[in-house]
Amino acid sequence: MTNDEPFGVYVHWPFCKAKCPYCDFNSHVRHGGVDEARFLAGYLTELRHFARRAPGRTVTSIFFGGGTPSLMRPGTVSTILDAIADHWTVADDAEITLEANPTSVEAANFAGYRSAGVNRLSLGVQALNDQSLKALGRQHTAAEALQALDLAKQHFHRVSFDLIYAREGQTAEAWQAELTRALDRAADHLSLYQLTIEDGTPFAARHAAGSLHVPDGDKASAMYVLTQEFCEKAGLPAYEVSNHARPGSESRHNLIYWRGHDYAGIGAGAHARITESGTKRALSTLKSPEAWLAQVEAQGHGLTSDEALSAQETGEEYLLMALRLAEGLDLARLESLSGRALDAGRLDALESHGLLARNGTRLVATQSGRLVLERLILELAA
Ligand SMILES: C[S@@+](CC[C@H](N)C(=O)[O-])C[C@H]1O[C@@H](n2cnc3c(N)ncnc32)[C@H](O)[C@@H]1O
Ligand code: SF4
Repeated sequence: MTNDEPFGVYVHWPFCKAKCPYCDFNSHVRHGGVDEARFLAGYLTELRHFARRAPGRTVTSIFFGGGTPSLMRPGTVSTILDAIADHWTVADDAEITLEANPTSVEAANFAGYRSAGVNRLSLGVQALNDQSLKALGRQHTAAEALQALDLAKQHFHRVSFDLIYAREGQTAEAWQAELTRALDRAADHLSLYQLTIEDGTPFAARHAAGSLHVPDGDKASAMYVLTQEFCEKAGLPAYEVSNHARPGSESRHNLIYWRGHDYAGIGAGAHARITESGTKRALSTLKSPEAWLAQVEAQGHGLTSDEALSAQETGEEYLLMALRLAEGLDLARLESLSGRALDAGRLDALESHGLLARNGTRLVATQSGRLVLERLILELAA
């Protein structure tokens, strides 16, 4: 790692107005309200901890994720951005993203976020019809989401929005029509996620009980394939399994994760990767917002784990992340991180089955490979 490699700062806001029944992100509902000033003080304290652990870095991207960061006051976002700039050099062209839910109340904050320094907004639209939004437990209508999208485009040059497909009862034809509408509205980036049934969620309980039927297997694969084709035709090809962008508008923050660079992560349940004395370390903070805050106030950080990764683990992590990318992985980088080359026989076999392709010094999962990506990665890492 060198100091001129990209470096990100992730800020996790762990609160939401309501919990969506499909979601297993670290997000909590606090009906009694949140003491935002006290949490802000906690963020500033934890930032100091990370600044000591990663001195001299140039921040190339900052990401406010959640939870629902659009519930934060613009003043809170602004104070955190100022503190980041006090601790590190922030690159002139740094990407500063905030994830927003598209309710009208939150859209009223967009101008404030822009003034605070946010230059990219990522909106959780999820579906373009009210019936699906209701089934997903969302707090906004489709019309409200589209209004928020229009407003976002007025305030930010770079706007992304998320949709979830392979939803209950959705046919490939219905998704194709919805995707076509989405592409008509797209700015420079789209995240299109196939619905996953996450353990411990209300959707998982309904799925297990047989009362939630979602397209899976061949039906979901067909939706994935049509998603790739339509986005490509519309000029937003996939640069990662679920992420599509006009060339040059890829999310720099997410590329930091997928290309295996370092990032700080503050707030409850955040993860970080920091290289210290040549060794990559994996850090994560307490998931409970209140427990995180109490520990930050007592110890200066909310870390619950802080471990050195072995060369093999660092290599495996890079393999896992980079094969999600259309550009694939850099074989020389993988070898230098893990200290060993991939098994040549296994590579040849996967290539001859059409799951992998070698492109000069890079290794890329083909479309067939991406449909079975988890198995492919397990096979390669073995
Ligand atoms: C951190 S979450 C949400 C950000 C924001 N709170 C929102 O809901 O709009 C980021 C994205 O993950 C996606 N997501 C969350 N749970 C999912 C699931 N079970 N399956 C597929 N996508 C999911 C949603 O599209 C969501 O916008
Ligand atoms: S999808 Fe977004 S709004 Fe819904 S619970 Fe998860 S983080 Fe909160």
